[in-house]
Amino acid sequence: MRVVETITELRTLRNAWPTDNVAFVPTMGALHAGHASLIEMARQIGSKVIVSIFVNPLQFGPKEDFKRYPRPRENDLSLCQELGVDLVFYPKEDELYPNGMEILTVIEPPPSLTLQLCGASRPGHFTGVATVVLKLLNIVQPDFAVFGKKDAQQLAVIQRMVNDLNLPVTILPAPTVRESDGLAMSSRNKYLVSASDRQQARLLHRLLQNVRQLYQQGMETTQEAFALAQEQTLDESLYPDFQLEYLAAVHPETFQPVELLEPDTLILVAAKVGQTRLIDNLALNEAPSATSSGDLHHLLQSG
Ligand code: PAJ
Repeated sequence: MRVVETITELRTLRNAWPTDNVAFVPTMGALHAGHASLIEMARQIGSKVIVSIFVNPLQFGPKEDFKRYPRPRENDLSLCQELGVDLVFYPKEDELYPNGMEILTVIEPPPSLTLQLCGASRPGHFTGVATVVLKLLNIVQPDFAVFGKKDAQQLAVIQRMVNDLNLPVTILPAPTVRESDGLAMSSRNKYLVSASDRQQARLLHRLLQNVRQLYQQGMETTQEAFALAQEQTLDESLYPDFQLEYLAAVHPETFQPVELLEPDTLILVAAKVGQTRLIDNLALNEAPSATSSGDLHHLLQSG
């Protein structure tokens, strides 16, 4: 496995694989079983796998956790090695933003996709994501790029950018990997140190499952299902540090809210547990999602 920090080195190595199917997994590091499953999907589809690790300052708000975002370089690299990654792109900030970020050309995704949900509380976030992903796709020039459904709004923004700008890459969505109690894996789960925070973090998935169950039992309107699911799941006296930011039902591609629940409706949730902001989502017709396999846990523990 090669690890490179510069665009020039990356391009030289990538250009040596003109006839390969190159599959790319962009990440911000602090890799967990969710990332590992994306890399495994890339491994299955591509004859070469490239992973990028870059904590992108452009997508963090001024009050967000850019500085304290975990950066366990050695663990990340050994996990990539064990997963059979061919090339890791590990740029420094000035490699991607040599002129800083004030005078940068950026990608502005359509407001219909970004003003609501995570975009509402994180202004500029999806501009930062779309811009860095376009830069990375231009640098790496992969045939395939894998993104997690865990970040559903991000996936929709990227898929739209690829369609609108005719980028020559196929986006592969990968299922959400969860802990055994349903909590979606996330690099930010590291912030959940107390047992009580960890307990309350489970509520996101429970709330989603509850909505799905009510739908399966015949409840048709979003309003009814949400009211009942919240009443059944979120007892404020039991969960004082759980602050719901949004619970929403949207069309999976347009991300517009829906009043009537349909099989392909996407239910999304964001909440703060103490200071930690967590997100999750579930499609009503989705089979119960995978938990991380024993194999992945084994790799992660050894890493
Ligand atoms: P990061 O949060 O590191 O996530 C990298 C990829 O892993 C994303 O596609 C994300 O959806 C996926 N992922 C995270 N948790 C997952 C889980 N539990 N199951 C499945 N996939 C999961 O998302 C980003 O980085 C950045 O915004 C990035 C796209 C790299 C641009 O900076």
